[in-house]
Amino acid sequence: MAAAVRWVLVAAVAAAAVVALDNGVARTPPMGWLHWERFLCGTDCAAEPDRCVRYRDGMERGGGSRGPGAGRGALRCVAGLRPELQCPPALLPGPSERLFTEMADVMAAEGWKEAGYEFVCIDDCWMAPTRDERGRLQADPRRFPGGIRALADYVHSKGLKLGIYSDVGNSTCAGFPGSYGHYELDAQTFASWGVDLLKFDGCNAGSLGLLGFAYMQCSRVQGCSLSRAARIAGPSGVFLLLSQLVIGNFGLSWEQAVTQMAMWAIMAAPLFMSNDLRRMKPEAKWLLQNKEVIAINQDPLGKQGYRDKSFELWERPLSDRAYAVAVLNQQEIGGPRNFTFSLTFLGNGLACNPACSIQQILPTSRDWGVYNWVSSLSVEVNPTGTVLLRVVPL
Ligand SMILES: *[C@@H]1O[C@H](CO)[C@@H](O)[C@H](O)[C@H]1NC(C)=O
Ligand SMILES: *[C@@H]1O[C@H](CO)[C@@H](O)[C@H](O)[C@H]1NC(C)=O
Repeated sequence: MAAAVRWVLVAAVAAAAVVALDNGVARTPPMGWLHWERFLCGTDCAAEPDRCVRYRDGMERGGGSRGPGAGRGALRCVAGLRPELQCPPALLPGPSERLFTEMADVMAAEGWKEAGYEFVCIDDCWMAPTRDERGRLQADPRRFPGGIRALADYVHSKGLKLGIYSDVGNSTCAGFPGSYGHYELDAQTFASWGVDLLKFDGCNAGSLGLLGFAYMQCSRVQGCSLSRAARIAGPSGVFLLLSQLVIGNFGLSWEQAVTQMAMWAIMAAPLFMSNDLRRMKPEAKWLLQNKEVIAINQDPLGKQGYRDKSFELWERPLSDRAYAVAVLNQQEIGGPRNFTFSLTFLGNGLACNPACSIQQILPTSRDWGVYNWVSSLSVEVNPTGTVLLRVVPL
């Protein structure tokens, strides 16, 4: 079963992976919505009582009838902790199931599902601070009164899939119970709830720092492989998360949004938005639902983009409005290769506007003559070699 694992390394520094748990091999990057970047855990309990979830630092389980929010299994605030972690009365911390049902409603109703976004994903902070008496993870009963199973049913009823979050280490990034030592049980639990996808995070993984290693270990443990759990066909596709698309949130310019969408497409990165779909500007929606970009992201060839690995183009402005231009061929094997580049953009568009003369300086002296703004130049560069040019505007 473990042979079905496929790694798509999107970024070496990525700390999390998404594991497609549903049937069939995930050949294209998964698409969906994930709550984290936009809604976080709610760490400022004073300002955002509805989203405060820092149980471990700011609270402890309260018994009996003491303190605010007391009751069976209730949490109470602990005095004397860091101010940002102190908790107001009437605590209702963390993301609640309403966030996910509302997001599923919008995804089904406003073209997101048609565009390919199929996963509604819960990130960190969904859990109760302790496992249940049988050692299973459990959702916070106040924020998810219907439980994850009911939420999965709701999401499925909208023609969408549900993703959930866990961590390979002893605790999640926000301090909730991690899956270390419970891989099999947790996979079974998620499967019994009808969960379709797991974001497997890499916090607190100790010496298992490498998520991949932890994942492989899990796959080797008898019965541990996520494939063995009921309804789960196999760890069919594993994608490292580049990051979440934050288009539609605060802080990105239009150009940055375009760049993010374009780069995610080039990199074949999972398209997980983390924004508020209930309040989207039309241009953000246009970008995120752009069929041509999504088609590139989802291209069945499954190859990641790359920069032209062989060549680097460097330029340096010189004193007399001239430019030095170096073309470096980084390839170490093979023979000389031609590198063709447009002169239009050289020197911020100034070097050859309207024309320029080009002198080759290295590896041999050569007069390339006069070129105009819209022409291009093709230079032959040896492996590991560089062609150095001097470009003088006319
Ligand atoms: C989790 O905790 C146990 C017990 O303290 C420890 O043996 C184990 O190495 C920890 N795992 C990680 C990944 O740090
Ligand atoms: C590079 O281009 C020149 C001119 O078109 C050509 O004569 C030469 O053979 C090419 N070199 C290589 C390695 O393709």
